[in-house]
Amino acid sequence: MTLDFANNGTITDPKPKPRKRGAKGPRYRFYCQPSEKMRQCPDSSVALTVTSPPYWNAIDYDIHARSGDDVWHREREYTAFGDTFEDYLVNIATVFSEVKRVTLDGGFCAIVIGTILHKKRHYPAPMLITQRMLDIGWEFHQDIVWNKVTGGVKRAGVFIQKPRSGYYYPNIMTEYILVFRKPGEPRRGREKALEIDQLFTRDIANNVWHIAPVPPKTINHPCPFPEELARRLIVLYSDAGDEILDPFLGSGQTAVAALKNGRRCVGYDIEAEYIDLARERVKRPPPPRQFNLIPRFEKVEIN
Ligand SMILES: C[S@@+](CC[C@H](N)C(=O)[O-])C[C@H]1O[C@@H](n2cnc3c(N)ncnc32)[C@H](O)[C@@H]1O
Repeated sequence: MTLDFANNGTITDPKPKPRKRGAKGPRYRFYCQPSEKMRQCPDSSVALTVTSPPYWNAIDYDIHARSGDDVWHREREYTAFGDTFEDYLVNIATVFSEVKRVTLDGGFCAIVIGTILHKKRHYPAPMLITQRMLDIGWEFHQDIVWNKVTGGVKRAGVFIQKPRSGYYYPNIMTEYILVFRKPGEPRRGREKALEIDQLFTRDIANNVWHIAPVPPKTINHPCPFPEELARRLIVLYSDAGDEILDPFLGSGQTAVAALKNGRRCVGYDIEAEYIDLARERVKRPPPPRQFNLIPRFEKVEIN
């Protein structure tokens, strides 16, 4: 176990009260501290978690938060969430055990995570995290593939140069949205969650979602997920009034989507700059995207 944090954390709401499902509470509360221990959250209080954990050593949040520009990208090895990949998985299990403690029986936890490329090795993080989640007592509920459509890691050039066996490294266009459930009575809402429109039947109804990433330089964080992704998870897996948790809050996309949809939000991050950013963004929420993507297929002849 290698979590080691000097930061004691700044608490935005010093006296949180235990709350029951549907009870009133602050619309949002953000804490600058590691989420391995979320003492401000009572047992069985959160309906849903929507989060994307740190990507092991892929992104140096510490450098990014202090510089606020593009120098974050692989300037230095990011090891705060685990020196080795095994340490990383241990730390993930620690945080998601704590998430399980604070989750209502039958409540959900959605983790957005992609495979990790590091020093010419490819780490199957989503698969191994799934195993850890089962080990700590979560039930596997659903896997959704997030197809980024317009973004991703470009690698196919290798095969274009050498179109031979053994040179196939496809572009990585996806991340997984892994949905887990805490054992207990299923939680089912009474209100209509979503319109059954074209967006639903052509995209949301399937377990491959087509959502463009956040355009570069629009949010001052290295890896925000799209608000639309958080919105879908929030309306599909929680009800109005519920408290939604993001233990790795970042720019606050989960909080923005939660508040816009009548939920409350509790968030944690170790970088004070990101807590400030998230607070600013919930105070002045960004306008909704004007368009969503739906897939269309065409036939091509086989050569
Ligand atoms: C992948 S980013 C989350 C991005 C977020 N989903 C968004 O849309 O902006 C992971 C975040 O976890 C934070 N973090 C890293 N270690 C942490 C820890 N132990 N506890 C809480 N937050 C942590 C990082 O500062 C970073 O902002």
